Order: sequence, then C-alpha cells, then structure tokens
Amino acid sequence: ATHATLRDKDCSSITPPYPLLLENLAVVRKHLHNRPLTLAEKILYSHLFDPEHGSGDIVRGETYLQLRPERVAMQDASAQMALLQFMSAGLGRTAVPSSIHCDHLIQAVTGAEADLQRAVVSNQEVFDFLESAGKKYGIEFWKPGSGIIHQIVLENYAAPGMLMLGTDSHTPNAGGLGMLAIGVGGADAVDAMTGTPWELKAPHIVGIHLTGQLNAWATPKDLILHLAGRLTVKGGTGRILEYFGPGVFSQSCTGLATVANMGAEVGATTSTFPYTPSMRAYLHATGRGPVAHAADSAASHGFLSADAEAEYDELIEINLSDIEPTINGPFTPDLATPLSKFGSFVQEQGWKDEISAGLIGSCTNSSYEDMTRVADLASQAKAAGLTSKIPFLCTPGSEQIRATMQRDKVTEILEGVGAVVLANACGPCIGQWKRDDHKDEENAILTSFNRNFKSRNDGNRLTMNFLASPTIVTAMAFFGKLSFNPMTDSIPLPSGKLFKFSPPSGQDLPSSGFDAGNASYYPSPVPEPQPDTEVVIRKDSQRLEILEPFSSPFSGENARSLELPALTVLMRVRGKCTTDHISAAGPWLKYKGHLTNISENLLITAVNDEGGEVNVAFDHDHDASQSDTDTIPGVAKRFKSRNQPWALVVDENYGEGSAREHAALQPRFYGCAMILARSFARIHETNLKKQGVLPLWFADKSDYGRIGSGDVVETIGLAELFSDKTEATVRVKVTKRNGETFEIPTKHTMSSDQLKWLRAGSALNHIRSTIN
Ligand code: F3S
Repeated sequence: ATHATLRDKDCSSITPPYPLLLENLAVVRKHLHNRPLTLAEKILYSHLFDPEHGSGDIVRGETYLQLRPERVAMQDASAQMALLQFMSAGLGRTAVPSSIHCDHLIQAVTGAEADLQRAVVSNQEVFDFLESAGKKYGIEFWKPGSGIIHQIVLENYAAPGMLMLGTDSHTPNAGGLGMLAIGVGGADAVDAMTGTPWELKAPHIVGIHLTGQLNAWATPKDLILHLAGRLTVKGGTGRILEYFGPGVFSQSCTGLATVANMGAEVGATTSTFPYTPSMRAYLHATGRGPVAHAADSAASHGFLSADAEAEYDELIEINLSDIEPTINGPFTPDLATPLSKFGSFVQEQGWKDEISAGLIGSCTNSSYEDMTRVADLASQAKAAGLTSKIPFLCTPGSEQIRATMQRDKVTEILEGVGAVVLANACGPCIGQWKRDDHKDEENAILTSFNRNFKSRNDGNRLTMNFLASPTIVTAMAFFGKLSFNPMTDSIPLPSGKLFKFSPPSGQDLPSSGFDAGNASYYPSPVPEPQPDTEVVIRKDSQRLEILEPFSSPFSGENARSLELPALTVLMRVRGKCTTDHISAAGPWLKYKGHLTNISENLLITAVNDEGGEVNVAFDHDHDASQSDTDTIPGVAKRFKSRNQPWALVVDENYGEGSAREHAALQPRFYGCAMILARSFARIHETNLKKQGVLPLWFADKSDYGRIGSGDVVETIGLAELFSDKTEATVRVKVTKRNGETFEIPTKHTMSSDQLKWLRAGSALNHIRSTIN
C-alpha cells in the first residue's frame, strides 16, 4: 500500500487559528503600551488563556503566563503516565488535538524489519495500551515503524506561529517551522489535554542574529554545535533562542529544525525563527499548502516575525561564513572543537586514533537534504572503490523519509558502501542498540545525533561519543580515523592514487515530491473518540497500572474539617534533592506506567538529615515484628498500610531538575499530604499541587531543623485559605515526640484554583468533579 506523491490534505485541524491569535495579540499589545515584541513573545502572548486579564504588565523572567497550547505530542515512553493521568480526569476526549508516537521502544539489532517485529512482540502490552487509549479518546496513534516523534510532527503538524507541547526534550525541533514547541513532563501535557491553563514563566529571549553564508562543508548542525560550545549546557536555561537576520533565510526548513532541535542541549526552553520561503516550500512539499496560505496571510499582518525595534535580553552575532564543521564531545554536547583542530585535540588527549562506528539519522538529522548530501559523498567514495571502514548505521526519521530515500536510490547508494538502514525509530540514539563489539572497552563513535552523555548510545560508559553533521560522520567513516579531515586530507587507494572528497551537495526537497510510503502507518487526522473501546491493561501487568484517583484529605473522618489531618513526619531530607533523587531513572524507566512498581524507588538516593545516611528512614511507630529503620520507600509503605498520612521536611530548592511528574505522584501514592520546604523548585511545586500535596515554605528557614521524623504536624489556618482569602497565612503546629508543642509560621503560593485541586485531592479529581 504505497501512497503516490503527497497531495494537499485537509488542513483544518492543523492550521493555527490565526485570526483569533491576531485578535489576542492586539489585546495584549494594548496592555503592553504597544511596545515592540519579539517573535517568541508574539507567539506566547497570542496564546494566553485570558488575554484581557492575563497580560497586565508582563515582565520577561518574572511573570507567570497561563497559556493555551494548540496541540500535544507524546512519545511511547512518556505517553504512558500522561495517558493514565488523562484517563483519571474522566473526560471523553482531549481538549486539543493530540498524538502518540511509538519510537523509543524499538531496539536496533540487525536491521529495520526484524528489529521492528521483535520490538512489537516485546513491547506488545505497552503498544496495545497506547493504541486503545488513542482510539477511546480520539488521539492520533502513530504505530511502531511510522517514525520518530519530532520528524513526524515536522512533516505533519508543525505550523508557523503555533504553540505546542511535547513530552520529550527535543520537541523544540518543530521550531524549524517558525513556531514554539516546548518539551514538558506528562503532567503539563495533561493540562493541555484537559483544557487547564498551562503555566510558564515568561522566558528571557536571546536574539541570535545570523549573517553570511555557510561554506560548502558546513551545515546548520555545525551552527548549533558551534553555538553549544559558546553557550554551554546551561546557557539557554529559562530562555528562548530567537534567530533572525539574513542568514536565517538561506537555510532550509529542515536545517532550521536541526538547529532548533539541539537548542535543548544548551537548556533552552525552545528555539524559533521568522517565517521563511523555505518553510513555505516545505509546507507545500508535505501536503500542507492550505497552512502555507494561511501563514502567508498571518505574516502579512506582521505576526510571524519580530517587530523592528524588538528588544532582546541578550544579543549574539554569528556570521555563518565563519562557521567550520565542528565535532562536539565526548560526554557533553558543549565541548566543541572545529574540525581543523580535531586531529590535534585527539592526539593531545592521547586517545586511540580510531572510530569504531558511524551513526547517522535520528530526529536531529535525517532530512531529505541530509540524506542526499550523505549519498553524494557515498557515491564519490564508491566510484573510487571505497566502502565504509567501520559499522555504519542509518536511522531514517520517518516512513516518508525512508520511502523517499528508497525511491530516489539513496538507500541503494548507502547500502552499496556498507551502511545498514535501521527501523524508523530512535534506536541507538536512546540506547536501544544491541551492540556486540567494544563491550566495556574504550572506543569512539561518531554520530549525527544530539545527545552524548555517558552510556547514552550503547550502555558502555567508556564509549566516547562525538556529535557531528551527517556529512562529516559519513566522510570520516570511509577512513575510520578520528584525525581524518575530509576537507583537506586524501585517502590512498590500492592503485596508488589519492582520493579526496569534493564538498557534498544535496537537495533540500525531492524534485519529484515526497513518497509517503506505507499508507498503513498514517492514522486518520483527529479521529473521533470511540468511547466504547476498552483500554487494554493486562491484569498481571508489571509495566502498566490504572491510576486510581487519590482520595481527598477532606473526606471520610476528616470531612467536616478544612484543615489537613494530623500528619506524621516521615523524614527530614538534607541538602540537594532533585527529581532524580525523588524518582530515579535508569532501570526504573520501564515502570513509568506502573505507579506501584516505580514507587519502590521513592527518594532512594536522598540523604536523611537525622544520621546523614542515604535511603534510611525511621519508623517510630513500628510494631514488634518490624525494626525501627527501613529504606525510605519501606517506611512510606508502612505508613500507607497503617493509613497514616504523612509529611516531609525538605531543604532548599526541593525538586529541582526535570518536570518529571512521578516525583510528585509517588509520595502522594504512599500518603504524603504536605511538604515543608526551605524552598521549592517552581515546576515541582506546581506538580505537587496538581497531585494534591500541599507545599508550604518555612517563613523562618531555621525552623527546618526543629522538626524531625515521628513528630506530628497540623495545619492551622488552611480553612481560611479555602474561604477565598488566598493571602491568609498558614501556621503549622508541631508536636514533638516527647510531647512538647510549638507553632511555626509558613508561606504558600497556592492560587484559588490550586486550592480547589487540594480540596478535591488532585487537579484531575477537580476536573472530574466539574464534568460530572
Ligand atoms: Fe529519539 Fe534520540 Fe530524537 S531518542 S526523539 S531520536 S533525541
């Protein structure tokens, strides 16, 4: 079942509501006294939930914006908990069009077809669950083999000026089409899917002014590799990277997507570009002419680029003519070395001058342009009688790219020099690579991917992973040495002659259009929900479990009180406690859809301030058969079994790190009702509120040390908060284990909506109560 060339499709569900966005923007402009706006601001502010009241004085870096994203995309690993949460809200369909993409769970072993079949069998229960949930709620389901989330979003959903959320860090890839695409945790995706305002602190905006032209060997990947070296892995935190200037207009849309994709490596919220002719051409080539027409009209109203006088928080000038091919790594994406210096860098480090594998493709670099440039180099080498010196693997980003590569003989050329084409999936980029060579020994791989921390690709901490453009990876694969510079060096041939590559050339769009490939991979757009569908979760499943709604702390015996019931303090956590400490990753990832199983990792790397040990907690109410200490999840489980609600006392910036909602779900699951902190990381604090945990801040930080495990804490004044006095303060009465009592003042950041969540037991319970 093969599609012919793509024709324009029905674009009603994928065209941003430009007239409405322009109207919203006009309202916000008025409130902001018509100050000139950056492009990123225009996109954000036009998506305010309530432009009339939500746009008072917006200060970048300070104001919290309540936003209405237009779309959600989820990959198969993170979609599990997102959907389980969505299901517990009790809605019949998602509030915005949403999609599920099966790409992370496919392991690369021998090649596309066999790997895909194996993955479908070994992950059957997860795929069945995702597919059935998609059907029930009208979510587009992209089955295994259809492609990588970010490539599919770029080909099918992205549109200039759109705001979307994706449950994956490289969601910003869609910025290549001049929009804001932001990577979030499942709880944020659930906000958008349930129609709850999604909150974001107005980011700072970095303007990146591009001039000049890229040289023949340099690619957009080299631009972002270079920039990662300048900004470092933290340089983009809390910021949007907004590119502008003539240099933007000389890039292909897919090249811009590569740049946006790797903005994630410098920690940027996302990246974006003004609408360009290459974006228009890409929309037409991918069957979205109507979106292009609508965008043309929005652009004519000044929506899709920054105002002339817009001010940036920081300005970076880059002349593209100065950019050299660049290789970043090992182990961190900001260690950037220009190709011309890479050989001596390798020598200085004393590394073996050998590449053990070359990998191209992934969500970052598998565009038609990338693949035709790579095929050009492979043809040159083949004509000289060369084949790849090392294992050479290629992951196409989507079925559309794979089919078009095949039709245009790119695949044949690559296979002709020894490449293995893998399934349209993440594969080695996310460690799904069954590699048999170089186990546990130091070796160097060269990839066109985006991340390179230790063990990411093959699980071997000693594998040095270098990031480069697909053309540099390909050219270097023919010599197999790290010191080889394909721009200047030659390869000796058996004939005695020398072979030197000419600069690669490619085509950004296929002249005979894209081939959509196997039609069965394409879900119907915005399918109608089928409410009678049963969501498939096996009774004995160890990976998936229905999320039971948490009960409200103001129900049962406590129904008449508006104060939390008396809580026993489980422990006082010392020092840094990130979401990774609260809910560890690694081997636990397979339980992301099973709250009972994953909760076994609760706080297992946290330090107990009473004694200084890791993963040790005290149980002062233990019965005769139990000891008075246990692991932290062990004690939490004992509390749960006794129906004893509990509290945690924690230090500064509790919950920093990722948006991982498991870090809030797990303590709640075991019965945590309140966390008293010296300070909270904002996203985690909001996640706690969503799950019905009350976060309170010590008004006097030294009170932290006055409360220990086994003490009982009670709120005083919460009732007043509920009576619409959000400015009221809450005091906490502490009863020490020896009977001594005292009260301490606290602060809170609960809004009136968030108080409703607390009262209902969780945000999702609240949503459910409003629809029933
Ligand atoms: Fe997949 Fe790697 Fe991209 S894991 S989504 S191909 S970053």
